[in-house]
Amino acid sequence: MAYEWIDHTYDVVVVGAGGAGLRAALGAAQGGLKTACITKVFPTRSHTVAAQGGIAASLGNMSDDSWQWHMYDTVKGSDWLGDQDAIEYMCREAPQSVYELEHWGLPFSRTEEGKIYQRPFGGHMKEFGKTPAQRACAAADRTGHTLIHTLYGECVREETSFFIEYFVLDLIMEDGECRGVLAWKLDDGTLHRFKAQSVILATGGYGRAYFSCTSAHTCTGDGGGMVLRAGLPLQDLEFMQFHPTGIYGAGMLITEGARGEGGYLVNSEGERFMERYAPSAKDLASRDVVSRAMTIEIREGRGVGPNKDHIYLHLDHLPADLLHKRLPGISESSKIFADVDVTREPIPVLPTAHYCMGGIPTNYHGEVICPKDGDADAIVPGLYAAGEAASASVHGANRLGCNSLLDIVVFGRASGMRCAEKLTAGARQREFSKDCGEATLAHFDAIRHADGSTSTADLRLHMQTTMQTDAAVFRTAESLSEGKQNLGKVWEAAKDMKVTDRSMIWNSDLVESFEFENLLLQATCLIEGALARQESRGAHAREDFPDRDDKKWMKHTLCRVDATGKASLDYRPVHSYTLTDEIDYIKPAVRVY
Ligand code: FUM
Repeated sequence: MAYEWIDHTYDVVVVGAGGAGLRAALGAAQGGLKTACITKVFPTRSHTVAAQGGIAASLGNMSDDSWQWHMYDTVKGSDWLGDQDAIEYMCREAPQSVYELEHWGLPFSRTEEGKIYQRPFGGHMKEFGKTPAQRACAAADRTGHTLIHTLYGECVREETSFFIEYFVLDLIMEDGECRGVLAWKLDDGTLHRFKAQSVILATGGYGRAYFSCTSAHTCTGDGGGMVLRAGLPLQDLEFMQFHPTGIYGAGMLITEGARGEGGYLVNSEGERFMERYAPSAKDLASRDVVSRAMTIEIREGRGVGPNKDHIYLHLDHLPADLLHKRLPGISESSKIFADVDVTREPIPVLPTAHYCMGGIPTNYHGEVICPKDGDADAIVPGLYAAGEAASASVHGANRLGCNSLLDIVVFGRASGMRCAEKLTAGARQREFSKDCGEATLAHFDAIRHADGSTSTADLRLHMQTTMQTDAAVFRTAESLSEGKQNLGKVWEAAKDMKVTDRSMIWNSDLVESFEFENLLLQATCLIEGALARQESRGAHAREDFPDRDDKKWMKHTLCRVDATGKASLDYRPVHSYTLTDEIDYIKPAVRVY
């Protein structure tokens, strides 16, 4: 069958309409650039809507605070894998980025004096790690929901063009430069070529590579897949964060804000075991620490429930009106997904895949980088990335809670602003090369007509259970090698894929097949990077290499994967310098909580 392209031209094309995508589109549009935002779901259904606890910023509304303390915590949380110039940028820009949201109408919860309410969150401290800070700016436990609605409204005001329910298939790369994207319109089956001076990828994470995760079904790492297919590397994918409190069995997120408001974890002996693992921060230690502690409790037979395979989170000692006012969303999810009334009973919870620290490598302007001719940070012309899809790298080996909403607005804003600074609105763009899009169409057609014997759903399940089992909170060479072998089997079986629906319109079987391909590429990077990294750092806990090894491993992993599943690894140095002289480089130290 012959396919035809419908062509569009914009100054900037943003892919993804979560918080990062919308903030990027807004920045570009405010800079006078003709901006398109392409998204596979309606913007306000993007996964940002699920973010609960808050957005970190040192406003100092509830306790003293400073961006330098915030930066210190973020570097320490990252286990010294974060790039300190980017971390400084994020923490300095945080207050202004939050005030912008406030002025656009984001309905933050308020203090008695009418200031933005801020709650404690794991790893956020005062005075360079001394006592807990209240830094998470919250709209009850629906912060992401309010953020995305606010940003969508502003984008509409700035006349961003939205292309909704379009699935972006590939980047258009010519001579090493990104010149646009190729997309499939899901509701009428038409195919589209978007030409742009710059493309910003804000496609979110790849949490759905795991069987149990807090991520929406749409979190399939589509941007990362496009980047790998373009022959560019992804960075630090071995660092997958497990959130300590996913609802047991369902994976649904119970915000860390629940512990910020006074909730605590107990084992089958009724013990508040975090006091043993993190005597100072206790239940508000950073997520990698809490997830490992919970896993150890369960392994050592102190899990709760008939199978002793989970942990209890108690909120039932907190006043009902506080739960109603500050945690209405998780009170409702606990009822729906665990049949628990949080005012009376504990919530059954388990560490659940939550956030991908790695992604498309960028500098702090959001420009995608890839080593070239001896320059470890060479910019890929025309290509930007922001949010969970990207790795700036502000989270390093482990992200602090509430630094994700911050990352999406700060780096979405930075990439939009950078485009506005570098591009000329309406500048003439040369024609695409003759064969533009042909390779993508050939692959599209092959998958659409795939007539093997293994369904995409079966392939996906095999991949997800492999990741859940072999690349979990704790890892060993043995588990990771087994994971590599199992993923090899998935790659093999994928050659025999079966797609049952051949239509071009609302073909969810075909969409899921492309999503599966994107996930499998990134699952492969994760396993390969984790197997090679012989140390423990942040969320990457190797039982066979329990110590952090700064001499050998304080470096970013870069991974490429070819169309057959073969991976190759490379490394680039961590930025061990700050952006300004207002703070010194924070030297590596042992993390104590
Ligand atoms: O626990 C939470 O509310 C999640 C926040 C985050 O991942 O930043």
